Amino acid sequence: MKKRYLVTAALPYANGPLHIGHLAGAYIPADIYVRYLRLMGKDVVFVCGSDEHGAAITIRARKEGVTPREIVDTYHAIIRDSFARLGVAFDIYHRTSAPLHHETSQDFFRTLLKNGQFEEQESDQYYDEEAKQFLADRYIIGTCPVCANPDAYGDQCEKCGSTLSPTQLINPRSTLSGKPPVLKPTTHWYLKLNEHEAWLREWINTGKVDGVQLHDPGTWKNHVVGQCNSWLEQGLQPRAMTRDLDWGVDVPHEIPNSKGKKLYVWLDAPIGYISATKQWAKDKGVDWEPYWKDTDTNLVHFIGKDNIVFHCLIFPAILKAHGDFVLPVNVPANQFMNLEGRKISTSKNWAVWAHEYLAELPGREDELRYNMIKNMPEQRDSEFTWKGYQETTNTELVGNLAGFIHRVLVLTHKNYTGVVPAIEKDREFKSGWNGDQFTNYEEELHQLYEKLAAMGREIEHFNFREALRLLMEISSAGNALLQFNEPWKAVKEDPELVKVVLNLGMQYVAALSVAMRPFLPFAADRLRNMLNLPSLQDDREWLDILNDLAEGNPVLQPNHGINPAEHLFSRIPDEMIQAQVDKLQQTAAAQAESASATTEAPAFDPVKETIQFDDFAKLDIRTGTITEACKVEKADKLLQLTVDLGFEKRTVVSGIAQHYKPEEIIGRQVLLLANLAPRKMRGIESQGMILMAEDAEGRLSFVSPASGWPNGFGVR
Ligand code: 2FM
Ligand code: ZN
Repeated sequence: MKKRYLVTAALPYANGPLHIGHLAGAYIPADIYVRYLRLMGKDVVFVCGSDEHGAAITIRARKEGVTPREIVDTYHAIIRDSFARLGVAFDIYHRTSAPLHHETSQDFFRTLLKNGQFEEQESDQYYDEEAKQFLADRYIIGTCPVCANPDAYGDQCEKCGSTLSPTQLINPRSTLSGKPPVLKPTTHWYLKLNEHEAWLREWINTGKVDGVQLHDPGTWKNHVVGQCNSWLEQGLQPRAMTRDLDWGVDVPHEIPNSKGKKLYVWLDAPIGYISATKQWAKDKGVDWEPYWKDTDTNLVHFIGKDNIVFHCLIFPAILKAHGDFVLPVNVPANQFMNLEGRKISTSKNWAVWAHEYLAELPGREDELRYNMIKNMPEQRDSEFTWKGYQETTNTELVGNLAGFIHRVLVLTHKNYTGVVPAIEKDREFKSGWNGDQFTNYEEELHQLYEKLAAMGREIEHFNFREALRLLMEISSAGNALLQFNEPWKAVKEDPELVKVVLNLGMQYVAALSVAMRPFLPFAADRLRNMLNLPSLQDDREWLDILNDLAEGNPVLQPNHGINPAEHLFSRIPDEMIQAQVDKLQQTAAAQAESASATTEAPAFDPVKETIQFDDFAKLDIRTGTITEACKVEKADKLLQLTVDLGFEKRTVVSGIAQHYKPEEIIGRQVLLLANLAPRKMRGIESQGMILMAEDAEGRLSFVSPASGWPNGFGVR
């Protein structure tokens, strides 16, 4: 087992505040992982910082009429503060505008140049004659050649996720002047990524480099490996690592032709992980190098899926090209979190902003963390809804977790003056895991051990949703233990039963105070206090408990005295949720209004290729009514519907679950493409397709005939 961990979380651009998508994508998972490792006594350093270069920053500055420096100073402070208040416990939150970072990135550039990793290439690039500037990355927009999104950026299409280069855009236009650009020659340093393709392919798919097994490829997420392979299949091309910009890290001045050239932001940003580690080590008076260079280090990058290629192909190529550095053992990227049925969008103000949440729902940091984990987009996109947030808080945190803890503590105060009762160990009672079964104290401690060990394994494998589920299972089992044995009734006739049940209940609560820590750090602190236990030092407390339980020893000794019981969580009232839903709708509407006042045209998809009437006539579209609807198990997006066509009923699987609830749509009239070849989805044969309208934001709407129209008739 490798001895130390260097864990990174994607450096957020300091061009705006954090929203829940960022938190669920990279930061909460990274924080859970790191907190757990610390509680297991591991040597771990957790670094992050603001990404302060690149077009994201300069475009914002230009829009607001301020300097890039003002933008990064403002948002660096807001982001750093949000992380701290949400308990995301970095060892250092650095920034890429720091001189140490500029020096570190320039040194990297020099070494890559010395190692023959660059080729200087002159090429024609888009130039805005009015703004007198080359237009790289986000300075240029145009129509995506893959999905026809008319507002794709020069480096990426945010609609379909394709990585692009400016010359691939159809109808390119400058984001500075809005005008079509001209082509002008310029010289840049290109990393010869093509020379790295072979080893990257082997490393991604087998975990081996030069015959050495560096990681087990089975531990990487499928969607991460899949995205890398689709890049590799297209063939890696040399990629420019410099830009013509006036904000960023200078190409070292001693290098000929470096005047006016800056490092590409995706070269300097990941090097930010290294400079952050250097600063952390400097502050602590320790050596940074083993964390990046010793093969005994586990390097883990937490990111969102839009960063996969940079962390799995380009940065590893840079590290290898430099030499001496380790490669990541895993890049557990998450997918995206949507909000109330729509994609989170900064420009449309469709987001829950972390700093606003913290101001408007103070003291509810763990409630947000809990919901982010429960809905974490680990394998596929997920969704946050305010209603769901209220429900998870009220039923799971208040009802299950806080309810169990409160009951045990109150009963211990009531029956044993607030001390853990001594017990007869062989006394039998009903198990909280299975009320039909009698069990004993030792057996139940062993069960607790098993659950904590299983939780740990899930965290180690980046399955945070499952780990959280197991945490709540401990609490549910605790509640069941009380329910099955009814200590409040038995206190007179069977005091030994009550003692063993409450003693065990206290062991569960004490174990929870540690196991909650990675997920709900604030509540864990409050609980430690109630239990009169020392606050956690994030040292090796989880490991200690595991060791105790493995040997059959309790976590809390008899006669340990506790403090007064309090409720760990409180219910979220309907008004609080309604206020948030209203705010979301209102701010988005205000944004849309101001956007429509300033933009000339909404983003319509271009009209598809012309077809003949015969092509259309092949489609048999019928009117029908949805008579039954239910969710398809384990498929967030799918509903199974029964559609009555008058002459027959059809089963249809439709990807509308994120837009409509089953109960809302029963009785609704729809149009069904009735002669589409049947297709199996999740084991269900779908016999047709419901026609839906989709707008620029990806919202869906049924297309229906006039009310009362008969079923089964055609559309022409
Ligand atoms: O996508 C982003 O928000 C980037 N700022 C992430 C950078 S991660 C790293 F490489 F620094
Ligand atoms: Zn696209």
